[in-house]
Amino acid sequence: MSARPAIRQSRNSDRAQQLLAWYDRHRRVLPWRAKRGERADPYRVWLSEIMLQQTTVAAVASYYREFLRRWPTVKKLAAVPLDDVLTVWAGLGYYARARNLHKAAKIVAEEFGGRFPDTAEELRKLPGIGAYTSGAIAAIAFDRQEVAIDANAERVLARLYAIEEPIAEVKAKLQTLGRALVPEKRAGDFAQALMDLGATICTPKRPACLNCPWMKDCGARKRAIQDLLPVKGAERERPLKRGAAFVARDATGAVLLVKRPEKGLLGGMMQPPLGPWTEDFPSAKEALLQAPFRAEWKRRAGIVRHGFTHFELEIEVYTAHIDKRPNTEGRWIEDMSAAALPTIMRKIVVHALDDGGPLFGYAKSARRR
Ligand code: ADE
Repeated sequence: MSARPAIRQSRNSDRAQQLLAWYDRHRRVLPWRAKRGERADPYRVWLSEIMLQQTTVAAVASYYREFLRRWPTVKKLAAVPLDDVLTVWAGLGYYARARNLHKAAKIVAEEFGGRFPDTAEELRKLPGIGAYTSGAIAAIAFDRQEVAIDANAERVLARLYAIEEPIAEVKAKLQTLGRALVPEKRAGDFAQALMDLGATICTPKRPACLNCPWMKDCGARKRAIQDLLPVKGAERERPLKRGAAFVARDATGAVLLVKRPEKGLLGGMMQPPLGPWTEDFPSAKEALLQAPFRAEWKRRAGIVRHGFTHFELEIEVYTAHIDKRPNTEGRWIEDMSAAALPTIMRKIVVHALDDGGPLFGYAKSARRR
C-alpha cells in the first residue's frame, strides 16, 4: 500500500531540503548562474536555457559569454539582423534554436517592452520554449514553483524511485514525481540542484552514491541496480548519407561559400557548394557534374564525417585553386571566422585546407574549437 498523502508530502519536503542543503555546499559555479543571494536576470536565464537544450555546459559556456558581450540585453539582441545571430551561433548546432531565439527576442522587446513573462504558461508561448525550458526559466528566474525535468533529472528520478520501465514510456510519470518534490520556496535552486546532482553525482556511469544526499533513500541504490538505470529503449539506427563538397580557393586564399536555404536542416547557414546527399558518393565523373563551375577539381584523400540527430553524413572533398573568380552564385570569403559555418561545414573547409596555404592559421584554430 502506498503512503498516505500527508506522509508522502512530508517525505518529499525532507527530500527537497536534503537536496537544497547539498546544493548550498556543492553548487557549480556557472557563467549564467546568479551568485548566492543575487537575483537571476531573466534574459541570461532564458539565453542559457535555450543554448543548453541538447547541448553540454562545456560547449555552451564560451558561446554564452560571447552573446552576452555582444548583446547584453534582450533589446540589443532583438535589434540585430538574424544573420549576425546565426554567425555567432555557428558551431553550437540545432540552428532552429538561433532563429527562434531571435524571434522570441523581438517579441519580448517589441510586445513586452523588454520584460520576459514571469509564468511558465506565458513563457511557453514564446518561440523555442517548450515544457522543460518554460519550467526552468519560471523556476530559476522567477522562483515559480515549477519543475524542469531534462535527461539528467530523469536519470536521477528513475534511480530514486527505482523505475525499471524504459524511460521513453514513463515521461509523464517522471514529471509527476518530479513536480511533487518541488519545494514552495527556492524552486529555482531546487531545479538547478537536480541538474547539478545529475551532472556531478548521479552520472550515467559509475554514480558517486557515497556523496549523494539521497543515498539512503534511493530505490535503485537499495537494490544495487543504480548502474542498470535508467533503462533506455532500443536505439534507432541512423541512416548513412553520402555526398561531395567543393572547396574552391582563389589566388588571395578566399574560399567560395554559398548560403543554405532558409528552411530545413542548417537553414540560412553558409557552406561550400555541396552535391546531393544520397546512398553513395558520386563517381569522379558525377562529381564533376555537381561542381559549381569547371575547374581542375582534385579529390582529397579521406572523408569528413558528421552525426546529425537523424542520420550520419559522410562527405568527400574536392578542391580547386583558381586564378580568376568565375561568375557563380555565392560569396568569396577570406575571413572564415566571420562566416556562419556550422561544424560539419567547418570540418569540410579544414579538411580541404589541410595542405597548408594562406588559411592554414584558420584551419588550426578551427580544429581546436
Ligand atoms: N542544463 C540545462 N539547464 C541548465 C542549467 N541552468 N545549469 C546547468 N545545466 C543545465
